[in-house]
Amino acid sequence: MDKFIIEGGTALKGTIKISGSKNAALPIIAASLLANTPTAISNIPRLQDIYTFNNVLRVVGAKVDFKDKENKLIIDPTNVSHLEAPYDLVRKMRASFYMLGALVGKHGYAKVSLPGGCAWGPRPVDLHLKGMEAMGINISLDKGYVIAKAEKKLPPASYKLEPSSVGATVNLLLAAVLLSQEFTIENAAKEPDVVQLCNVLVKMGANISGIGTDRVTVRGVESLQGVEIDNDPDRIEIGTFMIAGVLHPKSELTLEGCNAEHLGNFPDLLAKTGAHVEVSESTIKVKAPEELKPVSITTEIYPGFPTDMQAQWATMMTQAEGISTVTDTVYFDRFSYVPELTRLGADLRLEKNTVTIFGKTELEGASVMSTDLRASVSLVLAAMVAKNTTEVLRVYHLDRGYENLEHKLNAVGASIKRADE
Ligand code: UD1
Repeated sequence: MDKFIIEGGTALKGTIKISGSKNAALPIIAASLLANTPTAISNIPRLQDIYTFNNVLRVVGAKVDFKDKENKLIIDPTNVSHLEAPYDLVRKMRASFYMLGALVGKHGYAKVSLPGGCAWGPRPVDLHLKGMEAMGINISLDKGYVIAKAEKKLPPASYKLEPSSVGATVNLLLAAVLLSQEFTIENAAKEPDVVQLCNVLVKMGANISGIGTDRVTVRGVESLQGVEIDNDPDRIEIGTFMIAGVLHPKSELTLEGCNAEHLGNFPDLLAKTGAHVEVSESTIKVKAPEELKPVSITTEIYPGFPTDMQAQWATMMTQAEGISTVTDTVYFDRFSYVPELTRLGADLRLEKNTVTIFGKTELEGASVMSTDLRASVSLVLAAMVAKNTTEVLRVYHLDRGYENLEHKLNAVGASIKRADE
């Protein structure tokens, strides 16, 4: 296992190129299986989750060519015949569960392992399954596997997601575009990742209305064709680097290759801390204020504050003068970073799904443990402003979701070394 050794106290200055989004890529990779011809996707990040998902696609018989130096992925689905995604691969990455919608949608049958739990508690898939049943798909469970069967074409139906779910919206869209005469998802997720999936499906030949709203209707078509597409930039990477660029009082970063439209009110919230934030279409500039002000946030579904950004925000608030709170309403248990930040000297108190941060605290290097993807990056952010040396253990979590993290940060002034644990 790898660890990071980080020398802190360094200001960041320079330009960072933003990578393609992992969470936006996975649904469109799954969608490529619905077509009759190959799909080529550019701006795919070189990340462990992408390599894992490519292997899931290979297991079912797709030809997958990842030209990783070019960040380009070509998927030929014409020989898909083994309609099963095994536990060994699905347990590594929850989004492999998208195979259920993609395989049953195209082939009328799928057997996919139930995903396991997560580092921050249970993450159910009940809505994916109930939604498919509402569509008319026959769902059964067998020794940890979900078996989905359907006869073409299914009669008109609808399903209301409560709560709204990104994953369930994706899986239901994948299942419905070929299989259902008409299927409406009420309270559908509106995240940019879902919107990109809808746009790609339409380009492939699907009939979808209500894209970007919480009521999406799919009218099944006979077939879909492969397309050439460009994956969206990673909005969570953008938000993470925006915070990295204001944590140290002398930092100043320019982020290139962004899509500011996907950030909701995040730039405005960051500006409330006193940070200087300049947003143009594809470039974002941030500059640290002399003193960060405390700003409290509550996570919500898009376009609210993303749960994937709350750990980084709490880390930033340890450097603000005053008291602030971070509340997560999407995932109540996503606070495993709290004791680790405390090890670095931060003053945080957790009660239910709210952490109160008492700033400003001088952070000082220590050994800390990564527990999940976003918790890990928050420890890297903290280590970069902490005095002396911090060791962040188990950085494999970071490799799942941040492309070239240490190279990108070292190029703008950080001091991060990767070593064996
Ligand atoms: C996706 C993102 C993840 C992000 C999350 C919320 C990917 C690969 N992952 O995860 O990074 O943190 O959106 O923005 O894109 N729920 C149910 N039953 C279900 C499904 C979900 O109760 O069947 C609940 C969840 O427990 C949670 C809420 O719905 O409270 C939202 O979860 P969801 O949007 O499904 O998250 P994911 O798609 O798993």
